[in-house]
Amino acid sequence: MDKLKEYYQKMAKYSDALLLLYWDMQTYMPPAAGEYRAEVISEIGGFVFRMSISDELGELLKNAEPVSEEDEANVRVGQKEYDKYKKVPSDLFEEEMRVSTICEQLWQKARKERDFEIVQPYFERVVELNKEMAKYLGYEKDPYDALLDRFEPGMKAEELDRIFTPLKEFTIKVLEEIESVGKVDDPFEREIHVESQEKFNRWLLTYLKYDSTKCRLDVSTHPFTNPIGMNDVRITTRYVPDDPKNSIFSTIHEFGHAQYALSIPEEFYGLPIGSSASYGFDESQSRFWENVLGRSLPFWKGIYKKFVETFPDMAKYPVEELWKGVNIVRRSYIRTEADEVTYALHIILRYELEHALINDELSVKDIPDAWDELFEKLFGLKITNISLGCLQDPHWYGGSFGYFPTYLLGNLYAAQIFDAMKKDVDFDTLVENGEFEKVRGWLTDKIYSKGRMYEPKELLKRVTNNDFDSKYFINYISEKYTNMYPIQL
Ligand code: CO
Repeated sequence: MDKLKEYYQKMAKYSDALLLLYWDMQTYMPPAAGEYRAEVISEIGGFVFRMSISDELGELLKNAEPVSEEDEANVRVGQKEYDKYKKVPSDLFEEEMRVSTICEQLWQKARKERDFEIVQPYFERVVELNKEMAKYLGYEKDPYDALLDRFEPGMKAEELDRIFTPLKEFTIKVLEEIESVGKVDDPFEREIHVESQEKFNRWLLTYLKYDSTKCRLDVSTHPFTNPIGMNDVRITTRYVPDDPKNSIFSTIHEFGHAQYALSIPEEFYGLPIGSSASYGFDESQSRFWENVLGRSLPFWKGIYKKFVETFPDMAKYPVEELWKGVNIVRRSYIRTEADEVTYALHIILRYELEHALINDELSVKDIPDAWDELFEKLFGLKITNISLGCLQDPHWYGGSFGYFPTYLLGNLYAAQIFDAMKKDVDFDTLVENGEFEKVRGWLTDKIYSKGRMYEPKELLKRVTNNDFDSKYFINYISEKYTNMYPIQL
């Protein structure tokens, strides 16, 4: 067991170096360094990959004798990861990496030039290679399950269908009810100097009690969180002059991811259980801090004084109007700009298409039309520009199928976790007073301290004493928006 752990900890040091190179590439690297940096990353990446499928690791896993629950989990999770990559022939794996890297670069060009044909031939190959991978990874009924399991262990397409179908109806109903009230003015539709936005975001992190000895905030085009190593998590945000909400909620979102990463026990570090439970669980925490907490009325009451002091133009709005402003529900084209209600529709659309694609029910060349058709059905809007349609996200072109559902699962888990938390802590009072320690303590005790010991559904059951159910999200949305508007759901 000790030798196995040493092996994993050594591997973690190489992958941490890799993560630092990535972070630098997306933040401070001078542009001309890109090509050589890609070579360095691919060299070290290849080395780490070979370590992760070596016969030596296979032997260590086979001979390990776990004595604790944690070590049993390390061997179980480690073995699953090992088999996953060992089952796929390495030339297929490398081919997929190579083709999807080129495809993702072509996607940028295709999006800019609004021309799907630029990316189509490579994208066809990416889809084929992923179908091939699904065969090697193995599944019972649905090849999509093999791909989904890489991001959300234990989740199946059948369950997604069962959950997403009623959620789709519910979301459309909420949207129509809210629209029936009439247009809501958005106090945030104004230009605000990036400098004062920056000042406010720095303050916000301090207010949330972020640990600046273990975390830093920088700027990037697409906000992200990168856990670089022990006691080192990097987060980024972005500043858009005429969209001050963008930076505020990007910062809180990434702060949520960082909290999770920094609260996993130090003794798990570098081991298979030393990360979050799944992509969906990780997202449940960013969404919890961003939406459940950050878009709540108590939170806005707590930050109101500082907010209007930093942005004096906003002082004419009472706190309820700012709260409404950060929760505006509207039909939109772009997923990353969607509110917490209509976000579900954006994911369901992607899920239905990628599910059909992997099951040979949809071909790559038909994606643009299929997207536009389904988008109009769900949102009632026509797509006139493909960069607002199927070319908006990088995930598919980079070879990630089964990733999108984890975003929505994150929203659903967050609501179920919130329901359980409210039974133990006086959430509204604590949040209004800016006393986040008890909220964080509860999450650490129930979730963060467990790392990746349990699969998402089991962890959710342990945290909430209930099976995974979308009714908590439906209740959360109903309660929040019937309090905000004179509507019935
Ligand atoms: Co996130």
